[in-house]
Amino acid sequence: MDGNGRWATKRGLARLEGHRQGAQTVENIVRVAPSLGIKTLTFYAFSSENWKRPEDEVNGLMELLRIYFTSKLEKLKSNNIRLRVFGDKTPQGKLGDDIVQIIEQAEEMTEECDGLNVNFCINYGGRDEIIRAAQQFADDVERGLRFVGDLDEKLFSSYLDSGLQADPDLVIRTGGDQRISNFLLWQLSYSELQFVKTAWPDFSGEDLRDILIEKQAVERRFGAVDVF
Ligand code: FPP
Repeated sequence: MDGNGRWATKRGLARLEGHRQGAQTVENIVRVAPSLGIKTLTFYAFSSENWKRPEDEVNGLMELLRIYFTSKLEKLKSNNIRLRVFGDKTPQGKLGDDIVQIIEQAEEMTEECDGLNVNFCINYGGRDEIIRAAQQFADDVERGLRFVGDLDEKLFSSYLDSGLQADPDLVIRTGGDQRISNFLLWQLSYSELQFVKTAWPDFSGEDLRDILIEKQAVERRFGAVDVF
C-alpha cells in the first residue's frame, strides 16, 4: 500500500492524512473483492522497518489500526470476513500490549467466519517471519514434538504466520517502486507481480479488476515446461 505519504504531501496535507485515505481504500477493496472472485487479501500495513519513521507518524498509524480493528469489527463479522494479523505479536516484539490485545480479540471474534480472508501484516518482515518459524520448529524438536527429518515445505509453511493458507496468486505494489520490500518472502515464490504508479489512496476497485483481467491471460507454469 505504497504512496500514501506522497499522495498527502502533493495535496499540502500531513502524511497521516494519506494513511487515513489509505485505510478508506482498504475498505473499498475489501468490499469489492468477493465480487471479483478473490478469496484472500493480504495488506502490508506496517513493516518491521516502519518503526524508523518519525514518532508522530508511527503513533498515528498505530492509532489508525487501533480504531480500525475496534470500530469495524462488527461489520467484518456480519460480512463473514475472517481477519488475521501476520507479524511479530510476541511480548519481545515492538507492538504495544494494548494493540496486541485488540488484534487478538479481532482474530478471535472472526474465527468462525468462512467468507473472505483478510490478512494485515503489522510489525511484519518476511525474513523475521521465517526466523520466527524456524525458532518455533526448533523449539518443537527440542520438546520432542517433531523430528528434524519431518521437515518439508508444507510442514515449514504451517509454522509461518500464514499457516496453511494458499500462496498469493498476485502481488500488487502501488506507488511506483518495483521492490518486494520484505513482503511474504516465502509465500510469493510463484506469485505474479504487478507494480503500478497509482498511489494507494487513489487505487480503486476498478484498477484491481483491470489488473485481474490482464493477469488472467498469463499462464503460471510453476517451473514446469509447457506440454503443448
Ligand atoms: C506506505 O506508504 C504505507 C504505509 C507505511 C502504511 C499503510 C497503512 C495504511 C494504508 C493504513 C492502515 C490500514 C488500516 C486498515 C487502518 P508511504 O507512507 O511509504 O508512502 P510514500 O512512499 O509516498 O512516503
